[in-house]
Amino acid sequence: MKAAYIQMNPELLDVKANIGKAEKLLSEASADVIVLPELFNTGYTFSTREEILAVSENIPHGPTSEFLIETAKAKNAFISAGISELEGDKLYNSALLAGPDGYIGKYRKVHLFFREKCFYERGDLGYPVFETGNFKAGMLVCFDWFFPEAMRALALAGAQMILHPTNLVMPYYQAASITRALENRVFIIIANRYGTETNQEFTNTFTGSSQIVSHKGEILVSSPEDGDHIGVAELDPSLADDKNLNPMNNLWEDM
Ligand code: ACM
Repeated sequence: MKAAYIQMNPELLDVKANIGKAEKLLSEASADVIVLPELFNTGYTFSTREEILAVSENIPHGPTSEFLIETAKAKNAFISAGISELEGDKLYNSALLAGPDGYIGKYRKVHLFFREKCFYERGDLGYPVFETGNFKAGMLVCFDWFFPEAMRALALAGAQMILHPTNLVMPYYQAASITRALENRVFIIIANRYGTETNQEFTNTFTGSSQIVSHKGEILVSSPEDGDHIGVAELDPSLADDKNLNPMNNLWEDM
């Protein structure tokens, strides 16, 4: 199957513009599974809770979810993307998964980075693995990578692929993801954003360089630090079921 990420640069707090940008890029992406960045519809550098509340939505009934679900159906593809979720009066930094038959599920980011802690709740859905006819996948959101047990939990639960929307600001994960893939023998699809975003006294620069890493730690495709980019790689998710490193070392048996 073909897996892809979309690297893009969202407009802060402009959901309509961002859905438009994603729509154009999705129309150019030809793959069975496509991953978009963390908070692709809202941008990242918030200054107040009020401004996040104004752009957050129910998953799966909000406008961004509906756009992604309809696009997944129309493209006969699976799509994962980061969305700012509002449930009741609580905000979550979430990722949605939709497929050819519609909405599949969501994940709520557990490891909140820096000022995200001022606004978002810690994720409370655990680390779900979603089984489709084509693959078993789990989602993580950005800083979750820093905690090896998050990806380990997904791999132990049978995930073959990690769909990973990110807004990376530190320069480490592009290299560290090779280790994460190797130690779990899973495929990782990292959809990062690029650009610099300023709001009041807060500024973030995002590192781009999205990439897909194989279960053997090979970089299958990668992007530059800047610019819209669609990265596509052919992969077989079932290869991730084999946890043998060699005839005498099995990742799970040797733990
Ligand atoms: C991050 O978790 N967006 C750095």
